[in-house]
Amino acid sequence: MAQLWGGRFTKETDELMKQFNDSLPFDKRLYEQDIRGSIVHAAMLGRQGILTGEETRQIIDGLESIRADLESGKLEFSSAYEDIHSFVEAHLTERIGDAGKKLHTGRSRNDQVALDMKLYVRDEIGQVDELLAHFLGTILKGMEENVDTFMPGFTHLQKAQPVTLAHHFGAYFEMFRRDRERISSIAGRMDTCPLGSGALAGTTYPLDRAFTAKELGFDRPCRNSMDGVSDRDYLIEFLGALSICQMHLSRFAEEVILWNSNEYRFVELDDAFSTGSSIMPQKKNPDIAELVRGKTGRVYGALVSILTTMKGLPLAYNKDMQEDKESAFDAIDTLKGNLKLFDGCIATMRFHKDVMAASARNGFTNATDAADYLVTKGVPFRDAHGIVGALVLHCIEKGCALDDLTLDEFRAFSDRFDEDIHSAISLQTCVEKRLTEGAPGRAAMEKMLREAREYLS
Ligand code: ARG
Repeated sequence: MAQLWGGRFTKETDELMKQFNDSLPFDKRLYEQDIRGSIVHAAMLGRQGILTGEETRQIIDGLESIRADLESGKLEFSSAYEDIHSFVEAHLTERIGDAGKKLHTGRSRNDQVALDMKLYVRDEIGQVDELLAHFLGTILKGMEENVDTFMPGFTHLQKAQPVTLAHHFGAYFEMFRRDRERISSIAGRMDTCPLGSGALAGTTYPLDRAFTAKELGFDRPCRNSMDGVSDRDYLIEFLGALSICQMHLSRFAEEVILWNSNEYRFVELDDAFSTGSSIMPQKKNPDIAELVRGKTGRVYGALVSILTTMKGLPLAYNKDMQEDKESAFDAIDTLKGNLKLFDGCIATMRFHKDVMAASARNGFTNATDAADYLVTKGVPFRDAHGIVGALVLHCIEKGCALDDLTLDEFRAFSDRFDEDIHSAISLQTCVEKRLTEGAPGRAAMEKMLREAREYLS
């Protein structure tokens, strides 16, 4: 019998029941965290005189050999075991004999799995942080190269005012920077070690919880053992932060899809990051961006799944909590994959700067500036708005841009227009004059770039 709890049972588990109950098929991914926690637990038991020095050494050597054999592929996971904890303990006892049976002294799988998940999430926070830092570097590079790349800014997906690509990218820089800060702030709130909580009520052995907490890189032991075994807040926070990050990725992906469309033609995706059609030879599809957008459901799904799993649980551990794993693993893998792939997609994307500038030029993105021009000539803004509105209507009828009108045409609408109107509403001027903090004008942009560089260095 490969279970840890056969003693009070007289019958074998029903085969379907075993499959239903077992978590090894998915919690095997926690083997490293599980062994790390067990090594520290054993070392503590030895220090406290609960195990002899010899037993402690045997256990630690045995655990290290299991880890090495799993990593080299010499040892494989077999479906005979219920979960990763049973698997490791059974193999330990097989390797070192009776001492292996003492590892679980003063411990329950409840505090063990709580620890494994916490260590896992902490490790993953580090990995997501690295991917985000790299992606932010890619976005920053895009900003630095495109301070003079004009493009239309949109509201309601209608051309609104001209911006630059650097400014547009800069907005995403802020989003992913917040994601990074949000995710790393979780690490501070989850800095308590559940090991030593036992099944729920601690234990009668003289455990040194401060030692295990410190050895495992935590600030301190968790303050309440019932909370220790049943807290999954950190996982929910992580999935929440990943959902927000995924939402940002999805918005960015949507823009790439639009920019890549025949109607926009703002970008050319690198061949390495696009796909073709089996029937239409002309196609070059933004599948990567569509998949990044499409995978959002899986990440949100994991968040809703765990929130729902946890919502009615009485204290302390309940087997429902085993359901914290599969969708969380999937969401974390998905987000990491998306970040890596989309980073490559953005880094290799080329921009049709001429098309972007032309698009900014037609569509009346300088209408606000024309009104602001009249304001500088003493016209109240509301009147200026009306005059330029009438000018826009005139241009629509003529099929031209504001820039194409002659001075006489401008003057027909207001005698306050002068020779300088054309330079005042040129694309260049419209962007350059936007110098409020956070705006696309060069000086404001330089400040943004300085701060972004500083943040990443
Ligand atoms: N596989 C279980 C989980 O993931 C481990 C804890 C089992 N504890 C128990 N009392 N059955 O939650």
